[in-house]
Amino acid sequence: MEMQNNFSLKNYNTFGIEAKARQFIAVHSVTELKTVLEQNKLEKKFILGGGSNMLLTKDIEALVIHIDLKGKKIIAEDDDFVWVESQAGENWHEFVLWTIDQNFGGLENMSLIPGNVGTTPVQNIGAYGTEIKDTFVSCEALSITNQETKKFIKEECHFGYRESVFKNEAKDKYVITSVVFKLTKRNHKINTSYGDITAELAKNSISEPTLKDVSNAVIAIRQSKLPDPKELGNSGSFFKNPILLKSDFEKIHQQFPEMKYYDISETEVKVPAGWLIEQAGFKGKRFGNAGIHKNQALVLVNYGNATGQEILNISKDIQETILSTFGIQIEAEVNVI
Ligand code: EPU
Repeated sequence: MEMQNNFSLKNYNTFGIEAKARQFIAVHSVTELKTVLEQNKLEKKFILGGGSNMLLTKDIEALVIHIDLKGKKIIAEDDDFVWVESQAGENWHEFVLWTIDQNFGGLENMSLIPGNVGTTPVQNIGAYGTEIKDTFVSCEALSITNQETKKFIKEECHFGYRESVFKNEAKDKYVITSVVFKLTKRNHKINTSYGDITAELAKNSISEPTLKDVSNAVIAIRQSKLPDPKELGNSGSFFKNPILLKSDFEKIHQQFPEMKYYDISETEVKVPAGWLIEQAGFKGKRFGNAGIHKNQALVLVNYGNATGQEILNISKDIQETILSTFGIQIEAEVNVI
């Protein structure tokens, strides 16, 4: 454990933005994390996981604590299910592949999502019809103020679409150190309802897909639409898909009958922000060092030397245009720092 000053975070955020941390330390165990928190009670602190869901627009004038806790294990099982615990610093995709290799079902639709396990509950990550909340059992977290351990069971996490208690009441109060998932050992609930998956499996003539087949299909779809952060800096979907009251949506829909939407409850619909951004003419556009991805308009990309401020400005331009064109407010999904 070594404290470093004026530390570059370029390799610690998937946007690949150059920004400095006033101080930086990586912790490799819960004990180390406790020690750092205790010894730096009065310091301003910033907790850094995989850096896959943030846009750095300035240097971080704080002690950045990088959560590098590794390890995964089976903690219980019966004939049908297995309870698997992963430490927060495990890479999400590697963890998913590890579960699939052992024929444990439940996470396959979320293959290739960037980031680490510890941050997955924060925004209830999801893709292709599955969300973390579907298999999440509990997580352990350490209080930043008094270093006590708290277990959050699923009901306490208040999961919603890209939402949880960790973005609200518990924000900046805890560090998630490990997460437990309940996965199937047999009778897997293969979920291929998402149109893209059905098409990908059909293309490969697979009619009874295994967990691995679904994972491979998801990987192929993501690789065709979403840029690899190692090649082109990005943070996945930059915006959330807006949720509108049906009564408000109906008025907008009359004006734009071709607008895509999904019913999500009796009273609400979700509109794909990617569609709105594409229709507004932004898809594939480049502005200096940054731009909007050519295959998925929800994704903003860094062509190499963009500053966080440049990307933020593009995002604001998109938000204003969507509001003035469609009367719909879209919100950032990534944390703007
Ligand atoms: N669409 C467009 N143009 C675009 C992008 C999308 O018209 O440039 C339309 C598509 O035609 C489709 C609809 O929007 O009808 C939905 O598109 P897609 O299936 O690609 O999903 P999404 O709503 O754009 C969400 C998640 C993704 C996740 C996919 C698949 C959010 C904010 N994003 O995107 O998550 O992979 O569904 O489930 O909910 C992420 O969070 O970083 C992420 C990539």
